[in-house]
Amino acid sequence: MSKTAILEIDGKKYEFPIFKGSENEEAIDIKKLRDLTGLVTLDPGYKNSGSCTSEITFLDGELGILRYRGYAIEDLAANANFLEVSYLLIFGEKPTAEILEKFENDIRKHTLVNEEMKSILDGFPKTAHPMGILAAMTSALTSFNPKSVDVDNEKDMYCAVCKTMGKFLVIATWTFRKNMGYPMNYYDNTKGYVENFMRLMFEIPTEPYKVSQTVIDALDKLFILHADHEQNCSTSTVRMVGSSHAGLFASISAGVSALWGPLHGGANQAVLEMLEEIHNNGGDTDKYLAKAKDKEDPFRLMGFGHRVYKNFDPRAKIIKKAANEVLETLGVEDPILEIARKLEAAALEDEYFKSRNLYPNVDFYSGIIYRALGIPTDMFTVMFAIGRLPGWIAQWKEMRENKEPIGRPRQIYTGSTLREFK
Ligand code: SDX
Repeated sequence: MSKTAILEIDGKKYEFPIFKGSENEEAIDIKKLRDLTGLVTLDPGYKNSGSCTSEITFLDGELGILRYRGYAIEDLAANANFLEVSYLLIFGEKPTAEILEKFENDIRKHTLVNEEMKSILDGFPKTAHPMGILAAMTSALTSFNPKSVDVDNEKDMYCAVCKTMGKFLVIATWTFRKNMGYPMNYYDNTKGYVENFMRLMFEIPTEPYKVSQTVIDALDKLFILHADHEQNCSTSTVRMVGSSHAGLFASISAGVSALWGPLHGGANQAVLEMLEEIHNNGGDTDKYLAKAKDKEDPFRLMGFGHRVYKNFDPRAKIIKKAANEVLETLGVEDPILEIARKLEAAALEDEYFKSRNLYPNVDFYSGIIYRALGIPTDMFTVMFAIGRLPGWIAQWKEMRENKEPIGRPRQIYTGSTLREFK
């Protein structure tokens, strides 16, 4: 006999089924709530509301668990590569070596971006933020690939996945090349996906460009750690936009815009700017902790806190370790890393943070590695987007394959009642 929840309103009792997931998470199924009671729920920010069922990512905020398709993030970060994890997230199973090689080669077939896209790029001022350019250019891809995805046709869906993985990486780097006044680079089909990212970003026509394996490995791991995170703000946006049957590029473009916000993916840039400000002000971490705790002060400790993790973000632990390793291997001495460690140690001891279960999240240390790899601060959130792309694609695909209804939340109106317009 499955569990139910009883709701009593004005003396009348209503019974709702309780839905249980494969990890024993439980939810009150309120699909019939309004029909039965005439009432809706109210939950700003959806802190207590599940929007869907999903087989892609499981996370337990209390225990600090993160798994992609059942595989622990620690296991994947240590033993998989980014394209392998991308395939796993999108298609549900680990690819064999042959399938992975075919996936990489099929992506290579779609890395040429229509040259006319450059005239769109030229329209942006040099000062434009890369995330704004990326959102616009991603949406513009629809104009050059107007045929919408037939999600029920496996070949068509697979081709759309490869096209998105190929073109998004290239245009993401074009945002940097534009700001630097460099010529646009093209993907080199003789090299791997992550190595190509560094080449697309930094190779200039006048001299050969070599990428160290340390850098490739560090970036590959960072992209894996960012690849998916169930129904976060940007992924929910991708699902919401896709639920109207808008195209994949249009939905991803909306996800880029949602990720840009400093409370979400934009936090990795905000963390570095915060750490640099603390460093430039003499390294007084206590002053910034006090600001973060002061309700009168809008300042928050960027890179700390999380909607779901009320324990350490497992990704932060892995990135913190990787930051030490990468800086050591590259022989980079970065005083900002010291400031980050000092700030983290102080916050973890502080009652305000402890009582609110505020721990470092994925964004707290990632920027330190990006900086060591020579990636400019305003490109940090673009890095997040490149990592998150397979997750967005996987979630969009699942939502469409499940034939989910168009997303349309309810509200409670609190404005003026009827009045005559004279
Ligand atoms: C990402 O959802 C995801 O999965 C996102 C993500 C992903 O992979 O997609 O994990 C990536 O976005 C990570 C989060 C990056 N953002 C930041 O680092 C920005 C700083 N963090 C905060 O803005 C905040 O913690 C959020 C936005 C992340 C979470 O906010 P919530 O869940 O809405 O929590 P809240 O604002 O209700 O905070 C609860 C309390 C409040 O204090 P009280 O009202 O109880 O007194 O904690 C305080 C907040 O003021 N608080 C902070 C704080 N975060 C929360 N106080 C100071 N500094 C902070 N960072």
